[in-house]
Amino acid sequence: MKLIEQLPDLGATLDAWRRAGETIALVPTMGNLHDGHLALVAAARERARRTVVSLFVNPTQFGPNEDYESYPRTLDADLAALKQAGCDLVWRPDVATMYPFDAAFMLRVPDPLADQLCGASRPGHFDGVASVVLRLFSQVRPDCAVFGEKDYQQLVIIRHLVADLFLDIDIIGLPTIRESDGLAMSSRNAYLDQDERRRAPTLHRVLVEMAESLAAGGDFKALHTAALEQLEAAGFHPDYIEWRTARDLSPPRPDHPSRLLAAAWLGKARLIDNVAVGGKTA
Ligand code: PAF
Repeated sequence: MKLIEQLPDLGATLDAWRRAGETIALVPTMGNLHDGHLALVAAARERARRTVVSLFVNPTQFGPNEDYESYPRTLDADLAALKQAGCDLVWRPDVATMYPFDAAFMLRVPDPLADQLCGASRPGHFDGVASVVLRLFSQVRPDCAVFGEKDYQQLVIIRHLVADLFLDIDIIGLPTIRESDGLAMSSRNAYLDQDERRRAPTLHRVLVEMAESLAAGGDFKALHTAALEQLEAAGFHPDYIEWRTARDLSPPRPDHPSRLLAAAWLGKARLIDNVAVGGKTA
């Protein structure tokens, strides 16, 4: 496995692979890898001859009071896990490589994709995500890129980005990988203390129960109130629980696959999760 930190070295390796006719899959990450990321790597390896994993904690997707500085950086453990997982190349640019000009071109993700759900309380977050993902796509020029469904709004926005800018990249979304008690794997789970960790799976359980009730014809408003109450009783500070069309996050429509999406604070961790309603995915 190669660790590359300079663009010319990245270009040389990727060009050699392309000349040999090898396909390339990209798994963008911010490091602090867990089994959810490694499942993305495994999926990438099934789809392309070469797998590139990027490790870059992207400053432009963090708000001024968010955890950019304290975001866990675990390079040695990440490299060991990626080697074990069969990754071919780790792309680890620094901030000056990713954003070479002080006045950087930034993408503006259109509303209502950007300003709802997580975007409502994290203004500019998805502009930062889209801007760095487009840079990664330009640097690596992959045949396909793999993202987790845990960040469902991000996945929908990236699909839209690729379609809207005519990028010839196959976007693969993988189901959320969960701990045995249902908690979605996330780097931010590390912020939970022991007691919070015990209560954290409530978020998933509440979503699953609400999705079942919706699929059985339950009333969204009543279920929404009850779900918020359950989360608050478990010590969460809910940010939102919303029901959306799976493909584009528009309001749910009959006969279109839909999802329930939620974010809630538990102690210092902002947890997000989502589930399909009625067992149908997008
Ligand atoms: O999902 C993430 O880890 C990040 O948002 C991503 C896609 C790597 C962009 O920084």
